[in-house]
Amino acid sequence: MKRRVFSGARPTGRQHIGNYLGAIQNYVALQDEYDCIYCIVDIHALTSLEDTGELQRNIREMVLDWLAVGLDPGKSILFVQSQVPEVMELYTLLGMITPLSWLLRVPTFKEKVKLQPHNVNYGLVGYPVLMTADIVLYKAEVIPVGEDQLPHLELAREITRRFNSSFGDIFPEPEAKLTSFPLVLGLDGKSKMSKQAGNDIEIALSDKETVKRVMTALTDPARRYRNDPGHPDICNIYRLHGYFSPRQTDDIAARCRSAKIGCVDCKQLLAEAINIALKPIRERRAALATEPQYIADVLTDGARRARVIARKTLKEVKQKMGLI
Ligand code: AMP
Ligand code: TRP
Repeated sequence: MKRRVFSGARPTGRQHIGNYLGAIQNYVALQDEYDCIYCIVDIHALTSLEDTGELQRNIREMVLDWLAVGLDPGKSILFVQSQVPEVMELYTLLGMITPLSWLLRVPTFKEKVKLQPHNVNYGLVGYPVLMTADIVLYKAEVIPVGEDQLPHLELAREITRRFNSSFGDIFPEPEAKLTSFPLVLGLDGKSKMSKQAGNDIEIALSDKETVKRVMTALTDPARRYRNDPGHPDICNIYRLHGYFSPRQTDDIAARCRSAKIGCVDCKQLLAEAINIALKPIRERRAALATEPQYIADVLTDGARRARVIARKTLKEVKQKMGLI
């Protein structure tokens, strides 16, 4: 039997190249070798979203990106978290074996408290427990995520171990799987690329929009004039060339160090390389966007298939915990 992969992502709408390089490219790569389940975690999104009016549109935009980059509903299950409500029951049960102190020390919880002091809701504390429920409901072993999710994964492993030692060994310990770009920085070159920070490049941008966006990026801060020698190793644009222009990186580095190429030209080259790499994805996306019924069917079918597995695990958990 194939080992199981599970991952989730919040319905933030169009995906950016941080999502793509950090996680989604692994979702695609793992499809043949593993039994893969990918989930749009709308309940998790509610811990931060105050305006839920965008949720349904965000979900559609995300699925379009996922399908366009090569997720195949014939191979993988794609579904929306709230469509398989068993996860919320399991979340409640796992909450009973998770010490509050573990949750209060999670770094992302502390960050959220700072980021949304007006909305420190109970769900924020439980966020990693719900994430653990996502994973163990499908007895998943391999979890493709970006580096920012590692503290959550560590907690999921601890909760899993505690369940297994208290009630019987039924869950594998989930393991994170990183790509070679586990943390993509945003256009500011400082913080993680994210929609919230407004420093992202969406996969679905047009060629023109991509150029415009890349041109706003900060480069080597020590290079103030065109003739100053650059320092590619501390430049985020150079890092992105590493993925999008792998054959030219040595040449670009040498020309940057000797000030033969300026930052504007270097960014132009990067934007062109991104446009070439994303062209087939963008074309597939545009074609898929004309088939809303197909997108809806993919998610309905995904939820149906996921639910069969979820019901079975939940029953087993309830038996182990003495509820039935
Ligand atoms: P999110 O959109 O925050 O729910 O993230 C979805 C997936 O993309 C998760 O596995 C994240 O770890 C990953 N991810 C998000 N932003 C980045 C980034 N800037 N660099 C690398 N991975 C990322
Ligand atoms: N917390 C993840 C994020 O913000 C999303 C997520 C929810 C997830 N459940 C998961 C990721 C289970 C991996 C496995 O991106």
